[in-house]
Amino acid sequence: MDLYEPFNRYRWKRHFNALKKDIIRGRIPSPRRATIELTMRCNLNCQMCFRDQEQKGELTLEEFKTVVDNLSPGVRQINLIGGEVFLRRDLFEILDYLRDRDLRVRIQTNGTLLDAQRLQKLSVYWNVTGVGFSIDGPRELHNKIRGSNSAYDKTVAAIKNTAQFFQVSVNTVLLDENFSVIEEVFKTLLPLGISEYRVEPEMYATTDEVRESGVEPIAANIRDYRGYSFSAEDLADLKKGLDLLVEERSIKVVLAPRVAEIDAEDFIAGTVREDKKLFCKHLLVPRVDSEGNLVFCHIIKKRFGNLRDTPLDELWTGEEITRFRRNLLEQNLLPVCKRCCRLRTI
Ligand SMILES: C[S@@+](CC[C@H](N)C(=O)[O-])C[C@H]1O[C@@H](n2cnc3c(N)ncnc32)[C@H](O)[C@@H]1O
Ligand code: SF4
Ligand code: SF4
Repeated sequence: MDLYEPFNRYRWKRHFNALKKDIIRGRIPSPRRATIELTMRCNLNCQMCFRDQEQKGELTLEEFKTVVDNLSPGVRQINLIGGEVFLRRDLFEILDYLRDRDLRVRIQTNGTLLDAQRLQKLSVYWNVTGVGFSIDGPRELHNKIRGSNSAYDKTVAAIKNTAQFFQVSVNTVLLDENFSVIEEVFKTLLPLGISEYRVEPEMYATTDEVRESGVEPIAANIRDYRGYSFSAEDLADLKKGLDLLVEERSIKVVLAPRVAEIDAEDFIAGTVREDKKLFCKHLLVPRVDSEGNLVFCHIIKKRFGNLRDTPLDELWTGEEITRFRRNLLEQNLLPVCKRCCRLRTI
């Protein structure tokens, strides 16, 4: 264990407590990074996906440029996400624009469309600082979860090739079906040159949690409550096992959210809101949906204006979003937050 861990934890707690107080008083720092959802279309059909499939509209290239202009000059890093970003025919024009504006870019993809030709094109973008992929099991299970017989081989090839040019992280959603094979998955990924491996318990919400949250629209994988099939102890053992596999390699292993590691009992029992003081780090990162709306986060898709016609500075400090943030923090977040990968205890 890191000797500085308790000290660091204390420092972060203080930092987030102070931030929380500021936000409740109506003060929020100017963001340095933002996430843009390029499209909600996808070539896969994963069983647990929470993306908002009702959202059909997409920004044109010109509109995208306006949105980026309205995010800068404050924002210096853009995370591109979907759906599947490689379905955008103009993705390389989008990247050209971000490079010309000196903006750093991180891309999240399922990897199946990142073939040798696209990777060669991507490799010249010095401003791309990282690419994130998703693997949810060994070949057969991954393909079953992702609804495609060829997904696994394509994604593993893309991970291996991309790691020769960029920092690569891989994300696995912990599901009942794959919990027992996570170490096996990680062992396959180890020789591919990845720099980070993230595992995160499946986010989902029940109909009651969505109703009690009292906000619309919510993009969540909605299903009946059945807890998780793994315990807090199982999670701790899993993390320990993965850490041991890393040995001398410089690969970071992350169990997200942090709550699942340090307050695992409450996280698994679904009692974090009752028992712990919570904060959400992504309150500080603006998220833009595929139509240019500033939305609250990847789950709470409430809109607070559109970046096609209004600069971020104006939207970010608007009355409605300020009130919404305050209410959210005063209620110790919302019921739909309690299995979210962005949760923090403070
Ligand atoms: C919505 S996807 C979009 C990017 C891309 N299509 C992909 O699959 O990586 C972003 C990330 O969320 C993960 N994800 C999907 N459904 C999830 C869920 N119910 N709980 C937690 N993570 C989920 C995906 O595995 C992926 O790593
Ligand atoms: S590939 Fe990503 S966006 Fe597409 S269905 Fe799967 S998790 Fe959702
Ligand atoms: S914790 Fe709640 S507010 Fe924060 S990102 Fe998750 S769902 Fe959104």
